[in-house]
Amino acid sequence: MAVLVTGGAGFIGSHTVVELLENGYDAVILDNLSNASEKVIGRIEEITGKKPVFYKGDILDRACLDHIFETEKIDSVIHFAGLKAVGESVQKPWEYYENNIAGTLTLVDAMRKHGVKNIIFSSSATVYGDPAEIPITEKCPKGQCTNPYGWTKSMLEQILSDIQKADNEWNVLLLRYFNPIGAHRSGRIGENPNGIPNNLMPYITQVAVGKLDHLNVFGDDYDTPDGTGVRDYIHVVDLAKGHVCALKKMEEKPGLKIYNLGTGHGYSVLDVVKNFEAATGVKIPYEIKPRRAGDIATCYCNADLAKKEMGWEAQYGIKEMCEDSWRWQKNNPNGYDS
Ligand code: NAD
Ligand code: UFG
Repeated sequence: MAVLVTGGAGFIGSHTVVELLENGYDAVILDNLSNASEKVIGRIEEITGKKPVFYKGDILDRACLDHIFETEKIDSVIHFAGLKAVGESVQKPWEYYENNIAGTLTLVDAMRKHGVKNIIFSSSATVYGDPAEIPITEKCPKGQCTNPYGWTKSMLEQILSDIQKADNEWNVLLLRYFNPIGAHRSGRIGENPNGIPNNLMPYITQVAVGKLDHLNVFGDDYDTPDGTGVRDYIHVVDLAKGHVCALKKMEEKPGLKIYNLGTGHGYSVLDVVKNFEAATGVKIPYEIKPRRAGDIATCYCNADLAKKEMGWEAQYGIKEMCEDSWRWQKNNPNGYDS
């Protein structure tokens, strides 16, 4: 049996496909390459010695989905495909709701038509809004999102929960990722943002490689130890391994489950800069700038539930995250076109 990985050519998806193949699963990737390169497929093969099946196609394309479910023996779906740029979602809300929500509805409809009722969904810490408690447990109520991207995650959690409630043959695992960074140790796959990065680590690595001049630190007057924003950074390989644990959990037919995937440690922007400099020996010049709209002060989780129920726990620390992000960026200054 195979796992359909939508968005499997992307950052988290490609790392997850590596872990799946290395753990004996067959992986079928469906990706429209709107934010990925087809070259990633060859890199996955280089790392694992196995070539995943790849379909260039869209989750909004019913005929394409029908073809895959009719051709491949799909047992479960890991659903990464989606648009994820927070700022862009404010400018293009329709595109985000269409792609992420209509896309997921189309996918789920094809799944039930073909009798595949196991889905692992990429959710986000963003659903907690400005969290009511720190560290954040899964019991923390969902909050107000500050942008359409966040709302797509929050709404899709609700939609998938309602579908599972109405038909208990469904197994739905909602995984709330904290801040994934790092890259595969080989330096062959990693994050490949289009244009100027929005997120902290790819911005830092592009400063380090000389593509950008300095880091802008968005705010130093938050109620945090050094005034800069605190986040729960998690190595993307740990996150990928979390999906293998989630697939094993699926075998128990768990119904609806929600898990935080983070390390449980919070690092400020300046902590990340210092750790990056220590791990790589590269100096990162920075300037303090005003706060970025929609940002919160502190966000880190309690990931005990994932450990208790799935046997998953993050293995890598901030040092490995920085080293691996840097190895990827240094070896691939222009991403997959390097
Ligand atoms: P990514 O952009 O690298 O991967 C998403 C992939 O989906 C891309 O390869 C893109 O080409 C593909 N895609 C988009 N729309 C599609 C469609 N309609 N049909 C087929 N393929 C489509 O992003 P990522 O960082 O790997 O994130 C994966 C998932 O995890 C996303 O759903 C994202 O919202 C979620 N997530 C990411 C983060 C993060 O910080 N990276 C945090 C929380 C949740
Ligand atoms: N930051 C800077 N300068 C930058 C970029 C970021 O100072 O150039 C700061 C931010 O203000 C924040 C921290 O670094 O304090 C982390 O910012 P990111 O943009 O890397 O990450 P966010 O926590 O804002 O959001 C990310 C994803 C969201 C996701 C969330 C939780 O972009 O989609 O993690 O998973 F929902």
